[in-house]
Amino acid sequence: MDKKRILSGITSTGKLTLGNYIGALQNFVKLQDEFEMYIFVANLHGITMPIEKEVLRNNIKTIVALYFACGLDPKKANVFLQSDVSEHSELGWILTCNTTLGELQRMTQFKDKSAKAKASNGTDFIPTGLLVYPALMAADILLYDADYIPVGADQKQHVELTRNIAERMNNKFGPLFKMPEVYTPKVGARIMDLQDPTSKMSKSAKNEKGVIFMLDDAATIQRKIKSAITDSDNLVHFDPENKPGISNLMTILSAITGDGLDKIESNFSGKDYGVFKQAVADAVTNLLTPIQERFQTLYNSTEVDNYLMAGAANAKSVASKKLNKVKNLVGLNYRRK
Ligand code: TYM
Repeated sequence: MDKKRILSGITSTGKLTLGNYIGALQNFVKLQDEFEMYIFVANLHGITMPIEKEVLRNNIKTIVALYFACGLDPKKANVFLQSDVSEHSELGWILTCNTTLGELQRMTQFKDKSAKAKASNGTDFIPTGLLVYPALMAADILLYDADYIPVGADQKQHVELTRNIAERMNNKFGPLFKMPEVYTPKVGARIMDLQDPTSKMSKSAKNEKGVIFMLDDAATIQRKIKSAITDSDNLVHFDPENKPGISNLMTILSAITGDGLDKIESNFSGKDYGVFKQAVADAVTNLLTPIQERFQTLYNSTEVDNYLMAGAANAKSVASKKLNKVKNLVGLNYRRK
């Protein structure tokens, strides 16, 4: 039987965080033995907001090296840059034309990001790309007839929209696209900021103290976790509503070690927060240190360029067939039905 397909990507807008790892990257690596994988750097999504070209280049290079440093195996997974497979942009346009303004304006990420953009530059400068981005994301997914999309909770709404677009196109033009399903981790679909545990840990957070970056050194990780905002109960108990800080640290520990939340509660019963935070800090450091060592070698290796070329060639052979079918059914190839 053919393997089911997985597709996902990470946008090249900033330094990757522990949230990106737990919510997405960790799953890419876990799933690669069982599924046919298409994992890309979403560098076209990375230009929806203005970005310096040197920063963009470095972000892309860093994500690629981190993908492999985290354990993606080029023999198992097709890893590529979104911009190397031009079918993404072409299908993105066709889907944009089959999406409504209302649908795009309702996306939570658009509302948040456009509000932030307004607040930071004080003008109405909101790049169009920020609005139409989910149609490009739908193209990323639908080009490959992907079965499962491993993402964190914040991307669920975009996958839902993708399903709606797919259904609309299928109804209008005949069977074109497979319905993708979202795949989120049971624990860790939404890792929170350490300084503001009611907000998502984000690449673009203003205060870096609340964010663990995958390339933070051990001392920085220890410092950030020890100064994470908690409460004064001194009770390690999972209650995201009333104890968001402690619950977030428990989630991080659980996602990394595989220990259940109950087990963590009992392991730390009667112990104070200092001991608990030390355990979380050690788990994160033990996870990230070997990844960072492999990253150093991969960052400057030209070998990864070969992996990307091979990944893009495989991706393109799937994507071009699908795009052709779409062009035929939509009527763009006037000689073909
Ligand atoms: P991006 O780059 O914002 O995030 C990459 C992945 O990390 C997850 N994530 C988190 N998970 C848990 N806790 C957090 N604090 C956290 N922060 C981020 C995200 O949910 C995501 O899975 N639009 C996408 C990239 C993309 C894509 C696609 C994904 C483009 N095309 C097609 C899947 C399929 C994005 O900007 O993710």
